[in-house]
Amino acid sequence: MRSRASATTGEPWYRLGVAAILWRVLRNPVGLSVMLSLTILVVLPLGAAPAQIALVAGSCLTAVGIAVYWDLLSLPARIRRVTTQLGLVHRPPRGRVQRLRCSGWHPVTRHHARLTWRLPPGVTLSDVLDRQEALEQATDSEMVCWVEHRRLVMEVLRAPIPDHVSFSSFYEATPPPGRLVIGLGQSHRGRLWVDLAILPHLLVGGMTGGGKSVFLTQALTHLVLTHHADQLRLVCVDLKGGIELGAFSDIPHSFEEVVTSVDGAARALGSVRDEVDRRLQALRNAGVRDIDAWDETGRPPWPRILVVVDELAELTVRELGAAPAAVAAQKAATGRLAEIARLGRAVGIHLILCTQRPDAEAVPGQLKANLAGTVAFRVRSEVNSHILLESDRAALLPHHPGRAIWAHERLEEFQAIHLIADEAQRLLAVRAQELSGGGPVVVTPGPLDTSLNSGSISGRSEFPGIESTPWGSPDTGETEGAR
Ligand SMILES: Nc1ncnc2c1ncn2[C@@H]1O[C@H](COP(=O)(O)OP(=O)(O)OP(=O)(O)O)[C@@H](O)[C@H]1O
Ligand SMILES: [Mg+2]
Repeated sequence: MRSRASATTGEPWYRLGVAAILWRVLRNPVGLSVMLSLTILVVLPLGAAPAQIALVAGSCLTAVGIAVYWDLLSLPARIRRVTTQLGLVHRPPRGRVQRLRCSGWHPVTRHHARLTWRLPPGVTLSDVLDRQEALEQATDSEMVCWVEHRRLVMEVLRAPIPDHVSFSSFYEATPPPGRLVIGLGQSHRGRLWVDLAILPHLLVGGMTGGGKSVFLTQALTHLVLTHHADQLRLVCVDLKGGIELGAFSDIPHSFEEVVTSVDGAARALGSVRDEVDRRLQALRNAGVRDIDAWDETGRPPWPRILVVVDELAELTVRELGAAPAAVAAQKAATGRLAEIARLGRAVGIHLILCTQRPDAEAVPGQLKANLAGTVAFRVRSEVNSHILLESDRAALLPHHPGRAIWAHERLEEFQAIHLIADEAQRLLAVRAQELSGGGPVVVTPGPLDTSLNSGSISGRSEFPGIESTPWGSPDTGETEGAR
């Protein structure tokens, strides 16, 4: 038995196997540090002197430090290799090829470092920016590059993008300050947040099943959970039958039930358009520039109004036959959307528009020009990706629901927050009960715009001094002018 075992351990393939395992362990910084610590512990005799114990502890700490920061420590070498492959070098007629030289390395967090580089002669910032996408893909990171004191500074963000981001885990973090902050998801940078009050409008595009409606549901649910009805009013247009946004019909924030027809959308958008005019007039009368300045004057604040449309193409390009009334409603709705996009920012009125079809017909140029941020889920063709992002990255996204690109000033890949419809409904029901003081929410007709055939919510106001109108806006231009 013994002789057979020793014969087995003596086999060359067995030794090769052990060597391969050792190689794998030692190549991994964590494995390396564990082996290092174990070796020191075994080599040192038991009952060692304090100096020896300090040596062991110091070595272990160093090994753990190397293991934790290995990813960033090895980054300059990897970036240098990739930039060489991408041709960011100077090749003199004689002598050695000159490559990027790292002259500074500052870790900010475990997944975030700032590197400073000396550029070889003839290589400029725009050469680096031209290859940034390839560089990011090769190093699995997001980068921000600029030049400072004749050096290239590179901010490298490498937090792993998870396959799934749940609503509860994402929003357990404290959001950044802002009026209408929503979470997008998790990118290489970590959690991605956006303040709609600053943005101020958002386009969400992507092919069917990408995650547009889930994105919309989670964003609206978060806003409803964090804002009172006197701070935020919602106008939901769901032209896919009202199933996706149905849960938002019964909350105090909703101006009316979710709109499901082009006709209804034209009326609702007309009412929002009128509110834009009313607020602009009030601003003029008060001599202030925008809603933030209005709030600072100490006047009763206006609620922000968020208009969401899920599927925009149904509103802008759907064939409605020859019925002139239907075509007129469609035209009116599209025109009003464009005007709200153009004027809404100053008066606190914001848009989130979702579409499967991001082409020029479905998202008219005039409207698109005012949509500052884009969330692009996977699209079928490079053409559609270019329309959304001016890049083909949305067409290259993996087939993974919720994976998207955020485009605002620059492009950033992220995994969107996931919230299932049942959970959204449960959270909204609890919130509606809470806001109505535990009792049922009462819906009464609104005095401002009867043509809309809708109602305002007269729940218990948490903000004394704000009289309920459909939009909760207490002042018209005339009253302001009289002040
Ligand atoms: N962020 C996400 N994380 C994980 N899974 C997701 C995510 N978003 C969407 N999904 C999955 O993809 C499915 C389709 O999502 P969703 O209904 O939002 O797609 P859509 O883009 O609105 O499609 P359509 O254009 O047909 O309406 C969801 O039912 C869910 O299972
Ligand atoms: Mg959808």
